[in-house]
Amino acid sequence: MLHEIHHPLLQHKLTALRDRRTGCKEFRELASEITLLLAYEALKEVAVDDCEIETPLTTMTGKKLRNDLVIVPVLRAGVGMLDGMLTLVPTARVGFVGMYRDPETKEPVEYYCKLPENLVHPLAIVIDPMLATGGSLAATVDLLKRSGMDQVLVISILAAPEGVAVMTERHPDVPVYTAAVDERLNDHKYIVPGLGDAGDRLYGTK
Ligand code: PRP
Ligand code: URA
Repeated sequence: MLHEIHHPLLQHKLTALRDRRTGCKEFRELASEITLLLAYEALKEVAVDDCEIETPLTTMTGKKLRNDLVIVPVLRAGVGMLDGMLTLVPTARVGFVGMYRDPETKEPVEYYCKLPENLVHPLAIVIDPMLATGGSLAATVDLLKRSGMDQVLVISILAAPEGVAVMTERHPDVPVYTAAVDERLNDHKYIVPGLGDAGDRLYGTK
């Protein structure tokens, strides 16, 4: 279930993120801001329950979130979206999944997993800026479903049609929120036009 968000502010920020002249500091700030805007859309449909409260004047029925929200950044580039998520939902708990794409096979390799315990009806929000072949995110969602998450949703800044197809096939129940679905993958399985290597641009590795 794909949700491509076309808010003008989001598209403006995404264009700056893609630009090769954008340096590390601005890239990080933009990634956070874009995540916050995407997350606001992605959380529009989360379940709420009624709750009774007292205002200074009277009692009333308010709303509270039904699920424990667990933000799951996919190491390493997903960490670049964590600040934006926590700005929006500062009470959320955070789990980490380490997944990298083997440079030869392009297949995902899991190397780390630490998830919060004692969750009540957990809703996992997976954050990873790039949905390219879809291998990393599909494997992360497999892992989260096996770990007992009630629901999973994915927020990815950019997607390729190939990755969207893989997620739709392997996880048709998982909504994917993105700011753009680009044209295609190149021979190295990079998104085109894309933004390059998200991890390297966030952390200045290359
Ligand atoms: C990037 C990105 C995704 C993955 C997407 O991570 O952050 O996790 O590639 O590719 P896929 O859809 O084809 O699996 P990378 O493997 O470069 O690791 P990094 O975050 O540590 O740089
Ligand atoms: N990972 C990235 O960082 N960028 C891509 O375009 C594809 C995978």
